[in-house]
Amino acid sequence: MLQTKSRNDFKSQNSKFISNSYWITTFGCQMNKADSERMAGILENLGYIRAEDEFEADLVLYNTCTIRDSAEQKVYSYLGRQAKRKHKIPELKLVIAGCLAQQEGASLLRKVPELDLVMGPQHVNNLENLLERVDSGNQVVATEDVYISEDITNARRESGICAWVNIIYGCNERCSYCVVPSVRGKEQSRLPLAIKDEIKSLAKNNYKEITLLGQNIDAYGRDLSGRFIEGSDTTSLSDLLEYIHDINGIKRIRFATSHPRYFSKKLIQTCLQLEKVCEHFHIPFQSGNNEILRLMSRGYTVDKYKKIIDNIRSLMPHASITADAIVAFPGETENQFRDTLKLINDIGFDLVNTAAYSPRPNTPAAKWTNQIPEDIKKDRLNELNETVELNSRKRNQRYLYENENILIEGYNPKNLSQLMGRTRTNRLTFVEIPPEKKHLDFIGNEINVKIKEVRSFSLSGVMLDR
Ligand code: SAH
Ligand code: SF4
Ligand code: F3S
Repeated sequence: MLQTKSRNDFKSQNSKFISNSYWITTFGCQMNKADSERMAGILENLGYIRAEDEFEADLVLYNTCTIRDSAEQKVYSYLGRQAKRKHKIPELKLVIAGCLAQQEGASLLRKVPELDLVMGPQHVNNLENLLERVDSGNQVVATEDVYISEDITNARRESGICAWVNIIYGCNERCSYCVVPSVRGKEQSRLPLAIKDEIKSLAKNNYKEITLLGQNIDAYGRDLSGRFIEGSDTTSLSDLLEYIHDINGIKRIRFATSHPRYFSKKLIQTCLQLEKVCEHFHIPFQSGNNEILRLMSRGYTVDKYKKIIDNIRSLMPHASITADAIVAFPGETENQFRDTLKLINDIGFDLVNTAAYSPRPNTPAAKWTNQIPEDIKKDRLNELNETVELNSRKRNQRYLYENENILIEGYNPKNLSQLMGRTRTNRLTFVEIPPEKKHLDFIGNEINVKIKEVRSFSLSGVMLDR
């Protein structure tokens, strides 16, 4: 419900007070980061400037995550400090956005009465209107389901080279452990034309790489009815990739996250044909055991998953494959856990994001009585992480002494004499700059690099002339 409540407790005492600096802290996934960049764009459009310090900002916005309990607890400790600050500076505007805001809604106002605005992810593009209500002295809660309108301001992006572009919001899956569908709502695809316009404007502003974003990106277009792409009867992710491929200036296209249940052969073929689409697929498997996958309601088997990877590798042998996995799902036995380790070793992943299962509100698995004790969770997570690191290190060997095309994004923050970029397969790479080239600006360029050193999660190399 969109609720507004007039408030007197923290009403501005001094109407001449100019509140114009903002601070955003983002928790959670790329989706939340992309949302924060759009909200920063809206704030800057309203005349706000980015604050240097969280504790000096006139407006503080926490864009929150609730995927696991640990993510949630972190937010409360951050909020507590700002709530205290508000007692000294009543003009301070406190905003909580994102998935925890959606999950808790109005009850957050009871927990933290100092809050001015509680807003769910579907309301990001509407920040300006919501702040207007706050400015007229209301406490506002915006968590009702809405149609997500296009954001007409420019996002304030962290990178000047790589940009995230949302193509579908929400998720219609019902994985039994996951809070996302209840906090991000139903799938809503953006229209191809709006996506293309955004990418064109990114290209005009010198962006070189885009990553199309969706929780289940293969669902793109399912909710659109009608013909939206000239010359095509369908509006799928493959159609969209073809439709946006030829925008001048953009050199690389990525997308995430793929769901094994919907990942099609056609998509792999499309990626192979489209030169700018990078050879990197993020396809979470979650568990290497069929019974656990069934309990998770994932809708595929280990064999089906392996087949997808075989299909990719038969067409793109060098593609990098990354995934997410959860250990200690309710009832997971030692052997079932071993199946997950086995799958990682069988596939040889480039990277796996790992997590121990955390019970989430309003999800079926949270109510099951066969939860795994914390000490076993910890042990399994540690063992999983070791296996993942070993695999990443092994996979990275294939880059050693190879020439790789690196898109330079900036300088290595820990060593400013090195450039930093990524391979097409998304490996972070540090590049030594030859002394005679120190004066040149490489940012935004793709350069040839000979890889001289490989570690578990990054590479180092030297620039080649050609
Ligand atoms: N849409 C993506 C994932 C979104 S959430 C997909 O379907 O794969 C990101 C990751 O968080 C998930 O892949 C999962 O590995 C992890 N995750 C989600 N819910 C979790 C929970 N309750 N406990 C632990 N990890 C969880
Ligand atoms: Fe969560 Fe499953 Fe949707 Fe991914 S596909 S966001 S894991 S419900
Ligand atoms: Fe992302 Fe966390 Fe929400 S992972 S979708 S920000 S719950």
